[in-house]
Amino acid sequence: MHYLVCAVILAAGVLKTGSYSLENTVELDLQLTASGRPPLNPRFLSVTIDASLASEPKYIAFLGSQKLITLTRGLSPAFLRFGGTKSDFLFFDPAKNASAEEDILWDKSTNQANSCKENKIPSMVQQKLQAYWPLQEQIILKENFLGTYKNSTITKETIDLLYRFANCSGLHLIFGLNALVRNTQEQWNSSNAKLLIDYCASKKYNLSWELGNEPNSFRKKSGLHIDGLQLGKDFVRLHNLLSTYSTYKNSGVFGPDIGQPKKQSQKMLMRFLKSGGKVINSVTWHHYYVDGRSTSKKDFLNPRILDSLASEIQIVLQIVSETVPGKSVWLGETSSAYGGGRPGLSNTYIDGFMWLDKLGMSAKLGIDVVMRQALFGAGSYNLVDSNFEPLPDYWLSLLFKKLVGAIVLNVSFKTLQDVSETKIRVYAHCTNIKNPKYRRGDVTLFAMNLYNDTQQIQLPRSLSGKFTDEYLLLPGNGGLFSETVLLNGNVLKMVDDKVLPALNGKEQPPGTPLVLPPQSFGFYVVKEAKASACL
Ligand SMILES: *[C@@H]1O[C@H](CO)[C@@H](O)[C@H](O)[C@H]1NC(C)=O
Ligand SMILES: *[C@@H]1O[C@H](CO)[C@@H](O)[C@H](O)[C@H]1NC(C)=O
Ligand SMILES: *[C@@H]1O[C@H](CO)[C@@H](O)[C@H](O)[C@H]1NC(C)=O
Ligand SMILES: *[C@@H]1O[C@H](CO)[C@@H](O)[C@H](O)[C@H]1NC(C)=O
Ligand SMILES: *[C@@H]1O[C@H](CO)[C@@H](O)[C@H](O)[C@H]1NC(C)=O
Repeated sequence: MHYLVCAVILAAGVLKTGSYSLENTVELDLQLTASGRPPLNPRFLSVTIDASLASEPKYIAFLGSQKLITLTRGLSPAFLRFGGTKSDFLFFDPAKNASAEEDILWDKSTNQANSCKENKIPSMVQQKLQAYWPLQEQIILKENFLGTYKNSTITKETIDLLYRFANCSGLHLIFGLNALVRNTQEQWNSSNAKLLIDYCASKKYNLSWELGNEPNSFRKKSGLHIDGLQLGKDFVRLHNLLSTYSTYKNSGVFGPDIGQPKKQSQKMLMRFLKSGGKVINSVTWHHYYVDGRSTSKKDFLNPRILDSLASEIQIVLQIVSETVPGKSVWLGETSSAYGGGRPGLSNTYIDGFMWLDKLGMSAKLGIDVVMRQALFGAGSYNLVDSNFEPLPDYWLSLLFKKLVGAIVLNVSFKTLQDVSETKIRVYAHCTNIKNPKYRRGDVTLFAMNLYNDTQQIQLPRSLSGKFTDEYLLLPGNGGLFSETVLLNGNVLKMVDDKVLPALNGKEQPPGTPLVLPPQSFGFYVVKEAKASACL
């Protein structure tokens, strides 16, 4: 009713609320009962390191950076998936010597990787690697572009440094095994994987496993076509192999990491789940909105492109419910743009619209874990750049971790425009109460304004008497293409290599609408909301 009355008055062109017209006001309808979905995995927001970082194992030494470990630890608890196209071209050779760069992070007295307390990669070594890296990155991106991949050898030290990085950062490692080692009858040959698992078991490393990356495009990458049923049987073989180790008999196995669910991939997924569904703990698939080579600014702000994720999620959930009902579904590798991302877009403030919307929509529709491609490495979609500087999406991810809890709430809203045409997007969860500032019953909203003018969001009447902490993220210099981000007006940056900054909200008195400047996003914690779903 309220809505109708306003619409009539607005038509007369007089009514304004505060300084913004009603046309720019969104009225939230927030149900403080749960959406009915099971709580999200505590590692919901997770990250990847692309296996291409080990194309030349010496670059794994980057993971000795104290700064990178500090940044990564901020995102704990999370999974660290080591995988990607290159994982199907990596061979483990336990007899091969480490590179000099890897060797530096090695403690010869204990014959182990250095402990977490000694995170130093000597600055000379780091500088040398960084100087060579742009060339290596070109080689990696060119391999991707041409679709021709060379085999590479990884060593014991490669595994040690990767594991040490995950463990010192508080992340659980998922290692992607090479699925393209095949016998003449096309079955997976597990002998090289066994060498690697033997080594990990000898070190008592606690990790989980995948086998193969985007098997739907194996033919394109290697000339080999593997049927879904066969891949499922290969997973059963991996499962049986792991059952022979006391360390790994209960370890996680995730797959099949299929690409975008187009017709062929849907068929492959269905066949895979029929033969292998029973041995995997979660079903993984990959999602990118756009092609890095042809995308542009307007895609990142286009609600229809953001909505396209919903229909893909529905397709995958449908297949899973028909074949392995109840199995959790993960976005096992995902980012804005494929092909390494789009420089200037995937690594700047504007990428946040796709990233934040993906997190919100995935949670709402029932995805259990979302793994961001990538934490660090080749390409422009990383959270941390090759100088170990955190990019806007890193800070967005950190805020998400600190503020957003596992229970998803139902939120919808009314506007004077057609809701299906709106460029306001809002999601609501119970607040993460591991954050000492907040309590049970508090509610976290996160919202995006894709319009080019300021919009305001009115909380429902039931919450109009509550104080709210605002965490508004705006771009630094460079506008939407900024590589820095402001939290409530202050540039976010590390205090030093070991310390992340405090993330402070700005308390707003009861009744204050949430004001979103043009093309921006933010988080809002409604305190003492006493939402029944969150108590
Ligand atoms: C959540 O909202 C949707 C759409 O408005 C509705 O169909 C559903 O029943 C709601 N769920 C709960 C638990 O209120
Ligand atoms: C993992 O890290 C913990 C503490 O962060 C340490 O105590 C433990 O020894 C590490 N495990 C391995 C296998 O390195
Ligand atoms: C698997 O590969 C190993 C190493 O290349 C080889 O020795 C072995 O014969 C292969 N197994 C089968 C069944 O082909
Ligand atoms: C291995 O890690 C998983 C995931 O963090 C954990 O649940 C499990 O207890 C760990 N196992 C051991 C033996 O530490
Ligand atoms: C804002 O968007 C509208 C409609 O998309 C457009 O007509 C207008 O020129 C834009 N204004 C600015 C300042 O970019």
